[in-house]
Amino acid sequence: MPNALRDDVYRRPLATALDRLGIGPGWRCVDVGAGAGDVSVALAEIVGKEGRVYAVDSDPRARDEVAAAAATFTQVLAITQAAEDLLLPEQVDLAFCRFLLMHVVEPGLVLNRMCRAVRPGGYLVAQEPITSAGRVNGAPMSMPRARHPDVGAMLPSLVQETGATIVDAWAEAPAGAGPGVVADYLSSLTGVDPRHDPVVLPPLVTVVGRVPEPTRAGG
Ligand SMILES: C[S@@+](CC[C@H](N)C(=O)[O-])C[C@H]1O[C@@H](n2cnc3c(N)ncnc32)[C@H](O)[C@@H]1O
Repeated sequence: MPNALRDDVYRRPLATALDRLGIGPGWRCVDVGAGAGDVSVALAEIVGKEGRVYAVDSDPRARDEVAAAAATFTQVLAITQAAEDLLLPEQVDLAFCRFLLMHVVEPGLVLNRMCRAVRPGGYLVAQEPITSAGRVNGAPMSMPRARHPDVGAMLPSLVQETGATIVDAWAEAPAGAGPGVVADYLSSLTGVDPRHDPVVLPPLVTVVGRVPEPTRAGG
């Protein structure tokens, strides 16, 4: 799996989302469907030793990969757990997922579990692609192995249906022509070198949601 390349080509949407949240030292986060832990490490760097990052993935192999990637970050705790059964020892300030909902059976169910893991006033952030909006030499891309390759297109509604308020939402697509990370990433995904063909990778839709605080009765 081209984790490092993925992280490189999609680093800007991640940086923009984290910047938008105002995340800082001491935050408690969960990275759901953490894979090799690239996002978990990025979060750990920001939250520091006083913070906590739960790196959750259903694949037990991810635990070892996260352990290796986050060896120097004691604040990262890798957990083998299905997102559908998400259960953490504490409520978090931020529940995050990237390229996860496209693979699960019921994206809405997973977002609901993530929302329940967040403290009132905390954030729910999802970054998912619209695969068919990607183009190689003008032709639409596809990803037959994914259950919901275009789930990014539904993301604003899916987040809203959890009860979270949308703070911000946008789409961003890395693009290029000729040698470079965009071509390398596409080759690693499809096995086909685009050579000098123009490539627009699938736009990644980011939705930043805020979990409502309980309203005070009788104020
Ligand atoms: C494409 S990778 C994305 C990894 C990482 N989020 C990133 O952006 O680099 C998808 C990850 O989701 C995990 N995954 C798939 N279905 C899951 C589920 N139901 N619960 C938890 N993790 C799941 C896979 O094992 C895999 O590690």
